[in-house]
Amino acid sequence: MSVKNTTIVLGLQHGDEGKGKITLHHSRSDRFTHCFRFNGSSNAGHSVYLNGQKVITHIIPTGILFGLKGIIGPGCVLNEKMFFEELEDISKVIPNASELIRISFNTHIVSDEHIKEELTESKIGTTRRGVGPSYRDKYARIGKRAEQIKSFEPFIVDVFEELYQKQDISVLCEGAQAINLDIDWGDYPFVSSSHCGVGSVVNNGIPYTSIKSVEGVIKCYETYVGSKQFQDPNDPMLDKIGDLGQEFGATTGRRRQVNYIDLNRVNKAIRMNSVNILHINKMDILRELNCWKVILNNEIVKLKSEKTFKKVLKYNLGIKNIKYYYSPE
Ligand code: IMP
Ligand code: MG
Repeated sequence: MSVKNTTIVLGLQHGDEGKGKITLHHSRSDRFTHCFRFNGSSNAGHSVYLNGQKVITHIIPTGILFGLKGIIGPGCVLNEKMFFEELEDISKVIPNASELIRISFNTHIVSDEHIKEELTESKIGTTRRGVGPSYRDKYARIGKRAEQIKSFEPFIVDVFEELYQKQDISVLCEGAQAINLDIDWGDYPFVSSSHCGVGSVVNNGIPYTSIKSVEGVIKCYETYVGSKQFQDPNDPMLDKIGDLGQEFGATTGRRRQVNYIDLNRVNKAIRMNSVNILHINKMDILRELNCWKVILNNEIVKLKSEKTFKKVLKYNLGIKNIKYYYSPE
């Protein structure tokens, strides 16, 4: 007895690719018993539309909105107050949410001190959710874990007992942040403090032989929130893309910097994570602006049409299975 099937949804840019939408599609499909968060914290913000209503999840996996059992894994870090606030919010939409959500006993805690420590942080431009300080204390072996928090008692599980002692388990793993924010593979130090790639899933206790699909999610342009210079201030088209695409952070409300899609970086992310399906969001934005530009070998290349854009992507990303999306839902 073990996990029969695992699908992983990963962000392949800098976060905010629209992973929530892909997750939502899978959650509706009846193919999964569990949804699983394997990295990050309340720094994430996944916007999903449920019957036309916008719901934002932060640390609780989105799949529970569709009745899946949810697990917050040991690769995450968790603040008690933020967890219960989010649970209360989600319970308005899903009344039995607290019966569905579980926390792995060995998930580390973001303390109020960790959050205070970050209140004036601006060098990286973090979400100020205490994420870095919490992982720091975890690795310094002075952190607190979920099993030590009284109010978490009814929610605590052991991933081994939950996933390996039962039959017919299929897990939908919901990535947070993205490859370019990965602590090892991102643009250090302008990164988050967790492992955002496919390897992180296995470290959370999910058997690698159960992984049947790794689904990458990107936008047809790129956005980034944080302190590094990312957007060319002399290219007004980038502001137009940001405005039309409503590029504001779901967690902090900050304006996201915009750039064209970097095909070499996406190609690398696809190959290093064994991605077998690529979802490309927000095609409607570039279509409306009729702006088909990519970055290839560090140069901006202007393409003549949407058709050429798709051809160039297929060729340079080295993946055949690509799905394009043209609307927010
Ligand atoms: P932290 O994760 O709060 O430490 O922030 C580190 C960097 O990652 C900052 O540039 C954040 O803006 C960025 N970041 C963290 N979580 C997300 C996310 O869910 N979407 C987009 N950017 C994020
Ligand atoms: Mg987000």
